[in-house]
Amino acid sequence: MEIQTRKLKHVDICLQYEVNYQTRTTGFELYDLPYKALPESHLGHISTACTFLGKTLVAPLLIGAMTGGAEKSKLINQNLAIAAESLGLGLMLGSQRIMLEHPEVISSFSVRAYAPSCLLIGNLGVAQLNKGYGKSELIKAIESIGADALAIHTNPLQEALQPAGDQDFSGLLAKLASLIKDVPYPLILKEVGHGLSKALVTTIKDFGFAALDIAGAGGTSWARVEEYARYGEIKHLELTEWGIPTAKALLDARQVAPQQPLIASGGIRSGLDIAKALIMGADCVALARPLLAPALDSAEAVIEKLQDLVSELKIAMHCSGAKDIAALSALELCPV
Ligand SMILES: Cc1cc2nc3c(=O)[nH]c(=O)nc-3n(C[C@H](O)[C@H](O)[C@H](O)COP(=O)(O)O)c2cc1C
Repeated sequence: MEIQTRKLKHVDICLQYEVNYQTRTTGFELYDLPYKALPESHLGHISTACTFLGKTLVAPLLIGAMTGGAEKSKLINQNLAIAAESLGLGLMLGSQRIMLEHPEVISSFSVRAYAPSCLLIGNLGVAQLNKGYGKSELIKAIESIGADALAIHTNPLQEALQPAGDQDFSGLLAKLASLIKDVPYPLILKEVGHGLSKALVTTIKDFGFAALDIAGAGGTSWARVEEYARYGEIKHLELTEWGIPTAKALLDARQVAPQQPLIASGGIRSGLDIAKALIMGADCVALARPLLAPALDSAEAVIEKLQDLVSELKIAMHCSGAKDIAALSALELCPV
């Protein structure tokens, strides 16, 4: 199965190569949380609870979309699911195209037994809509694994650098607009780390997406992953450093779409990043690659990593005087 080999190669490259952007950063480092020396709060009483897509989360944090479709991916997804359920966080799965084309691998995506109540988000690539996928494939992806919602990823740069990658991204806006009306489940549009632009968010803000994941630059560069997969080295440096920094994409999206639920992702690496993203207007944040190695190890390793992030977030909230997520979102960042 060519698609399975490619997915496993992606996982190995993400573990073994330097696939983070080398020059471009998220932009979060340009801002500081307002530090309060007398915050009038108690660290032990800080609440990070929120609701997102109709579900209560212990913190506004999702495990980012990664994988599925092979034995190794099954282990990864099971450990991620156990961690999400035990901590009360959300889980985005990797692309389910392999599952729709090879139903025998569905067990690698079927994580509901491990995460009966967690916010579970399925995943498909938007380019498949130009290859015959439509309403029934989207509904099948959601219902066959008992997901709450489906993220549709758009990744023209990644596909352009992939041998035999999808090249036809034409006519997709119209297809998305009509699918949102036809599919009776929440749909999310996400990038994979090169960012949704202000212009694109302006165009799609009234389509009815349940959320947009701006997935900006500064974390994993999927252009770098594809270059390593294809050549074993980076041949097109400028292309691999191209993307809208996550903080910029988020601020722009919030400015042009004040009512649109937003997920911030792409290079979220600390509790402070999470706090800054929430102040900039994100409703939830997601991180992917930092959880890959822990997920291959054990559910406990994923839990430890996520607990550390939530604990950092609580410290950030306490020391800026925000007792809960609503108070945090109302703060203003200061330039560093
Ligand atoms: C191993 C791996 C596989 C991924 N596969 C998918 C995928 O199937 N679908 C998708 O939408 N995004 C996928 N992504 C992209 C992430 O969801 C995320 O948008 C991107 O890695 C940026 O976030 P990060 O900097 O926290 O890694 C994958 C990421 C990783 C690390």
